[in-house]
Formats: sequence, structure tokens, C-alpha cells
Amino acid sequence: MQDLSLARDLQTIMQIVDRAARDLTGADGASFVLRDGDLCYYAQEDSIAPLWQGRRFPMSACVSGWVMLNRRPAVIGDITRDPRVPIDAYRPTYVRSMAMVPIRARAPLGALGVYWSSIREIAQSEVTLLQALAGSAAVALENVALHDGLEKGKARAREVEAANRDLAERQQALEELQRQSEALSEFLAHDLRSPAAGIILAAQARLKKQDLPEPERRRWNAVLTSAEVIQRTALNLLDVASRQHGMFVLRLTELDPASLFEGVAEILEPLAASRGQRIELCPAMPRCLLRADEELVRRVLLNLVDNALRHSPPHGAVRLEARWLGPGWVELNVCDEGLGIPAHLRDRIFDKYARLADGGAITSAGRGLGLTFCRLVVEAHGGRIDVTDNGGRGSRFCVQLPAG
Ligand SMILES: Nc1ncnc2c1ncn2[C@@H]1O[C@H](COP(=O)(O)OP(=O)(O)OP(=O)(O)O)[C@@H](O)[C@H]1O
Ligand SMILES: [Mg+2]
Repeated sequence: MQDLSLARDLQTIMQIVDRAARDLTGADGASFVLRDGDLCYYAQEDSIAPLWQGRRFPMSACVSGWVMLNRRPAVIGDITRDPRVPIDAYRPTYVRSMAMVPIRARAPLGALGVYWSSIREIAQSEVTLLQALAGSAAVALENVALHDGLEKGKARAREVEAANRDLAERQQALEELQRQSEALSEFLAHDLRSPAAGIILAAQARLKKQDLPEPERRRWNAVLTSAEVIQRTALNLLDVASRQHGMFVLRLTELDPASLFEGVAEILEPLAASRGQRIELCPAMPRCLLRADEELVRRVLLNLVDNALRHSPPHGAVRLEARWLGPGWVELNVCDEGLGIPAHLRDRIFDKYARLADGGAITSAGRGLGLTFCRLVVEAHGGRIDVTDNGGRGSRFCVQLPAG
């Protein structure tokens, strides 16, 4: 019994049980038969001469099948006189009498048989012993199944752990790649700033000439606008990065919203003109001042107006408004006549690299840094930025900043 309780595999259990069955009953052979679907599999035997080890028989054609189907012992003192015995299979063997019991009476897993080479009376006590042994064998078999299950569970847990480790390593590698690519973009942006500034200066100098022929003026305007886009993108990227590295120094001064708007409109006028659009300044600008970093707030407005123009239909208008919000706050509005932004995506467009794809989903392809920059700047001032519906037509970006 102790050996059985420690057994961890089927083979060991069958060997222990066959040996014990022979010892307990003084039999000449013992067979451990396993149920294999509709067949009886003679899996293991311990016998003075070979019987049927390794063979399979239909349940209906052998004594072990009868035992399993009827879930009770078969006690056969003379095999020649019992119709359950397939005599042709027994004739070549030494077997003359036998006893067979089911292993696990309720839903038999198999059968345990003992065989004698002489015709003999089989005592009930021997059958009872065999049944007790078969009962222990059933428990041992269930233990093995349980143990295998546990081992599989442990192995699965180890697999999951390894997969998690692998995932963490990949995540780390990806983050490192992301860091490297951001560092590269920062270098690139840094190196693009001076050439872009040079082109802007050259284009501005050209455009100052009074007698510039119209086609040439248009070309230089296009050069100027493109160079400004390069410069703005480079600056956005550098500022977003420096803010993330914890460096973002504000130089606060008192600013007049109306003159900020005028400066922005002047810079983006060529872009608007090339698209047949207008930039309109609210005629009744309230008399209020902001306390903010001029350069950064100007670039916030440049980004918002640039977006508004690019997302408005040709010949539409982009409107700039300022409102006194009450104690301490001023709101700057950039309103367009474009398609607007679906309400559920209004927060997401401020995320780094987020852009709206056709059909309204968010993608992270392309630049998508302008609004991230805007939010960082506004929040660095203690203010807030959000976007709402522009009265059923386009979007209204609202920037709240401290009043001066
Ligand atoms: N006025 C607007 N109307 C409609 N959609 C807008 C508007 N402004 C921004 N968006 C959407 O939000 C996205 C993010 O804007 P953001 O300015 O951050 O990036 P971008 O304009 O695509 O690139 P950049 O980094 O050059 O500014 C845009 O790609 C666009 O899909
Ligand atoms: Mg933009």
C-alpha cells in the first residue's frame, strides 16, 4: 500500500499490483487490464508463462470485459465450464481457474485478474483481498492523474512566467528603440533649425523687394511657408523633448492678445492666401492682457491656426477671438469651418504623434506633435487647452491662460 501511494507512474503501479495480487492469492499469474475505449488492453502481467500482455480484445469477447461491463467480480473455478471464457484464447495457456475484479467499481478503469494452473475452489476471502487491492490501485491511478495535472499546471505556470519575461525584455528593447529614435529626431530637428531660419531670412529679404514680379513673389511665398513649417516642426519636437526632460523655462511678460493674433495672422497669411482662405481677427477684441511667454504662446497660436487652415475647406475663414474669463483668466479661441473632431477623440488628438485618419480613427503615423506642444506650453502656464464644436461648423480650440 505504501509503495502504491508513492508510485508516480502507471507502469510502477501495475507492477506493484500484479506482484501483490499473486502474493496475496498464491496465483501463478496476474494481469493488469486497462479499459481502452471498447477494448480491453492487457497492459501488464506477472506470470509463470506468457499470457496476453500487450494485446487488446473487444469488451464482449473476454472475461475482463465482462467484469468491467457488469462492474462485479468473475470467479471461475474451471475455465472449461464457464461460458464467459473465450476458450480458444485460454487453451494454449496454463490457466485452469481464475478470478477477475473491476478496478474502480463505479466507472471501471480496468480489471485485475489472477490465474492458477489447476482447477481449484476460489475462496471469497481471496476475492475480497483482490477487490481491496484493486481499490488501492484505483486510488493510485487517480493520484497519478492528479499529480500529472499538477505537474502540467506547474509547467504551464513556468511557461507563462517565461513568456512574461520575454515580453518584458521585448518591451524594454522597444522602449530603448523609441528612445534612440526620439534622440535621433531631436538631433535632426536641432540641425534643421539653422538652415530653416536661413531660408526664412532669405525669403523675407526677397519678398521685401517692391518690384518683385508676381510669379516670383508667389514662389518666394511658397519657399517661406515651407521653411516656416520645417522650423515649426523642428521647434515643436525640441520643445516637447525638452519638456519631457524636465527643462522648460518660461519667460513671462505682459502680452496683448490682439497684437499676438496680428503677428500670427501675418506669418500664416501666405499659407491662407495660397488656399484662398481668410484669417479673421475678432473686431471687438476685449481690453485685457496675458501674463505668458510670448515666443511660446505665439507658437501655440501658430500651430492652432496652421491646423485650422489645413483642416478648413478652400475659401473658408479661420477666426481668432479673445475673451476675458473673469478674475485671472483670458481665453484665446481659434475657430475653423472644417469637418470638426468627433467628440470621443477630442482628448486623444493632444497625445504625442496622434493624428486623425480618414474615417475618424486615431493613427500614430506622421508628425502629430503640434497639439502635444500646445498642451505642454499651456499647462506649463497653469492654463488649459481643449477643443469643442464651433457652433455646428468646424472646431473651436480654446486656450485659457493667466491674465496679466
Ligand atoms: N482644426 C482641426 N480640425 C480638424 N482636425 C484637427 C484640427 N486640428 C488638429 N486636428 C487633428 O488632430 C491631429 C493632431 O494635430 P497636431 O497639430 O498635433 O498634428 P499635425 O498637425 O498632424 O502635425 P504637426 O506635428 O505638424 O502639427 C491632426 O493630425 C488632425 O487630424
Ligand atoms: Mg499641427
